[in-house]
Amino acid sequence: MDVRPRLGIIGGGRLAEGIAKTWLARTGQAPVIWSRSGPRDNRISEATWTTKWTGTLEAESVAVAIPGRALLELAGGNEQAKQFTGNVFNAAASLSRASLQHVFPQATIVFIAPFLIDGANSIPMVALRPANLSDAEWTKANAALDDFGDCDVVEDEAAFAQLYLLGAAWPAVILAAVRAAADAGVQRLENEIAIDLGRRIFFRGINSLLNAETSGEIATPGGITERGLKSLGEVTVLFHTVFQQMQARAEELRA
Ligand SMILES: NC(=O)c1ccc[n+]([C@@H]2O[C@H](COP(=O)([O-])OP(=O)(O)OC[C@H]3O[C@@H](n4cnc5c(N)ncnc54)[C@H](OP(=O)(O)O)[C@@H]3O)[C@@H](O)[C@H]2O)c1
Repeated sequence: MDVRPRLGIIGGGRLAEGIAKTWLARTGQAPVIWSRSGPRDNRISEATWTTKWTGTLEAESVAVAIPGRALLELAGGNEQAKQFTGNVFNAAASLSRASLQHVFPQATIVFIAPFLIDGANSIPMVALRPANLSDAEWTKANAALDDFGDCDVVEDEAAFAQLYLLGAAWPAVILAAVRAAADAGVQRLENEIAIDLGRRIFFRGINSLLNAETSGEIATPGGITERGLKSLGEVTVLFHTVFQQMQARAEELRA
């Protein structure tokens, strides 16, 4: 007897690979996967490849892991998509609920913000619970999401849009800022060994502060930290501007 696969994945890029690996590691089941250029270079061997994208619709749930506009071009007007009654987990931030519902009118559509930075053993995510979904329907959809790792749920679309940026894109930008801070800290060291050491103890300090169970404050002598904090200036304003730019880019991508 053929068993219906639990997960189909549309796309074969970084997100699709993370999803496929995590799903197989955590459930022991291979997802069904499709990408326009197929399994070239033996990629994503954790999945069962299908030659038509509609092959992914054989699964109970389908994860969208291609850009939003590409999905609309691919699936818009397709009859099998119109008949699909499973879950559609959409990771493309650029898709609006209305356009996705138009493609999959009978599906349960859940927007997800997957955070790949935890590695392949878990994909923590934030999910946007659709309004008007019964508790029973939501429990069914959520069960599949729980198989990826920690899943936080929000019901507010605007909050979801912000959280989408906060889990991965914003930390990546802040890491660039932290690296710049490390560069500034070691600038007056000339010896390569001392520079390496300086970087190492700087990142160890950052790590300790982030993992500290207390307030995250650090004791330094003679007001050195205080002088630094006072001289920080309008760094919040700078970060606010940077975050706004990222939000603007996310808006531009909407299809
Ligand atoms: N990576 C992340 O951490 C992450 C997190 C959250 C959301 N997302 C979203 O997930 C989606 C994919 O991201 P990614 O990081 O996996 O990107 P990626 O590594 O660049 O992969 C993009 C995938 O989309 C496919 N694709 C691109 N244009 C296409 C088209 N016109 N028709 C059909 N397929 C097309 C590519 O096909 P080929 O296989 O033929 O190259 C590839 O499989 C994006 O919407 C992104 O915003 C990604």
